[in-house]
Amino acid sequence: MVELVRRNVVKAGSNHVNIIHGDGNNLPFRDKSYDMVNSTGVLFTSPNPIRTLNECYRVLKNGKEALIVDICRDISKEEREHVKEELAKRGVSWLGRLLTIYAIPMAYTIEEFSEIVDETTFEHYEIELYELWSIKVGMKVKLRKSL
Ligand SMILES: C[S@@+](CC[C@H](N)C(=O)[O-])C[C@H]1O[C@@H](n2cnc3c(N)ncnc32)[C@H](O)[C@@H]1O
Repeated sequence: MVELVRRNVVKAGSNHVNIIHGDGNNLPFRDKSYDMVNSTGVLFTSPNPIRTLNECYRVLKNGKEALIVDICRDISKEEREHVKEELAKRGVSWLGRLLTIYAIPMAYTIEEFSEIVDETTFEHYEIELYELWSIKVGMKVKLRKSL
């Protein structure tokens, strides 16, 4: 996976991206060393999202934000069918099945995720439904560390 990312970075013509393999529950970075943390589609798979978010907090500089985009379970049966249809139209029906059979059922609702964030060291957050592939199947969570 790391090699694939490295190849894609080279293909994109970027020479200022550093790829590091690490554990989200024990980030290999110093305290307060980053202006921004971004995570996409990871926390719904994590057995310990509080710890992962606290690690994001630790490595952020004061006053800076983490942006988390994750799969959300707050969607109805009809919307799940819509997800499958939309992704099939785009030629990725496997992704529709993966999302509806595995990912969405194991994801958090916005209420559950808010309770998780309440247990973390972050002082401020906003959370909202978010469109992935133009479908409201995700949540966007902005977390800020106090100055
Ligand atoms: C659904 S994939 C999303 C991958 C990618 N972020 C994307 O948007 O395509 C979830 C990824 O999170 C990784 N993951 C889960 N827990 C992790 C942890 N504690 N530390 C590092 N990676 C983790 C899994 O190995 C998996 O590759």
